[in-house]
Amino acid sequence: MANSQLDPAKAFPIGFDVVKSTELDSDMAVDREILEFEDEMRKWRHALHRHPETAFQEVETSRFVAARLDEMGIPYTAGLAHTGIVAQLGNGQGPKIALRADMDALDIQEATDLRYASEVEGKMHACGHDGHTTMLLGAAGVLSRKRDLPGTVYLIFQPAEEFEAGARKMIEEGLFERFPVSAVFGLHNWPGLAVGRAAVSSGPVMAGSGTFEITVAGKGTHAGMPQTGTDQILAAARLIENAQGIVSREINPGEAAAVSFTKIHGGTAFNVIPETVHLAGTIRALSDPTLADIRERLEHHAGIVGRQFGVEVTLSYTPGYPATFNDPRYAALARSAAGAVLEDRHIDEQSPASMGSEDFAFMLAQRPGAYIWLGAGTDRAGLHSPHYDFNDDLLPIGVAYWVKLAELALRQEP
Ligand code: NI
Repeated sequence: MANSQLDPAKAFPIGFDVVKSTELDSDMAVDREILEFEDEMRKWRHALHRHPETAFQEVETSRFVAARLDEMGIPYTAGLAHTGIVAQLGNGQGPKIALRADMDALDIQEATDLRYASEVEGKMHACGHDGHTTMLLGAAGVLSRKRDLPGTVYLIFQPAEEFEAGARKMIEEGLFERFPVSAVFGLHNWPGLAVGRAAVSSGPVMAGSGTFEITVAGKGTHAGMPQTGTDQILAAARLIENAQGIVSREINPGEAAAVSFTKIHGGTAFNVIPETVHLAGTIRALSDPTLADIRERLEHHAGIVGRQFGVEVTLSYTPGYPATFNDPRYAALARSAAGAVLEDRHIDEQSPASMGSEDFAFMLAQRPGAYIWLGAGTDRAGLHSPHYDFNDDLLPIGVAYWVKLAELALRQEP
């Protein structure tokens, strides 16, 4: 808004400072109190980045979070889903909502030359969960100073977002019985989207997913005498090809979905048709019924190819994460909070859903809420890249969003 006639002092409530986005020619409303936290938050983030820990092994990360909460005098419950922590702001009365951050790292060898690069061989914070954890800690600090919080905010520090469904484990261990909230909120930093922008959608945001493994088995034979056996290679190829018709011909074109084969192994020699071929891959869809439908259709095609080629086709399916679905009412609330911090014109409401998956979906399946993307910069390495680094410019933005969201949500909840 630097070029507009609007006086920033009038645009934002008293007590807010105006911060320039490095990428957008715009202003953001970030509380002075949050900016005071910024240096400290950078230190926290870099400390977490140095010591990445993967699924359910976030022991030091969890201790780090607990130590910061202790310093701030914020009560918390530790040990949910091994390393998860739930902090409590407010006296447990009134409207109750939850804000969630993920804490885990990935099995990736870091390829940056940052001075705070990973000190753990083969592990790295390549998805920015170090930044998510830091932002929620920052929000804890700011919100804990607000004496007039009109309700209770639970801060969920969750383990094992990547692959291991830490959110589901926390729910199984009674997360929402012990901390009975009416709504739950999440966010993710999003490289490719400019800093100072946010994407807030109503409805589906991330895909539901599952993985499959297929074995095609039959009578291997001499490659020069194919009539004396069955051809597992050809059967596998036919199955791969037929499965492409599921998305393009069988489901409603209005439904977003993907069927991808990602592994194919079979054979050891030029002149032998092998006895077995192994295939594997993943299916994705933006709705859980469509995902279930695709799975059934894949099994159907496997059966057809088996009969057609006289081979045994076995398919084993492993469910991944459900689709992440934003409740329209809470998406509107998240949009208001993001708009108050970043200006309404910098909020994308129509951005297409991602076919990636997110285990926050398990929480949104239990409680309504919203999951948003905060722009992390257009010139940054992507998520899960060995060159990725969380953009620290997001720290005050993320905290400002959480604080605004908590205030708006508590005012609206029954
Ligand atoms: Ni992530």
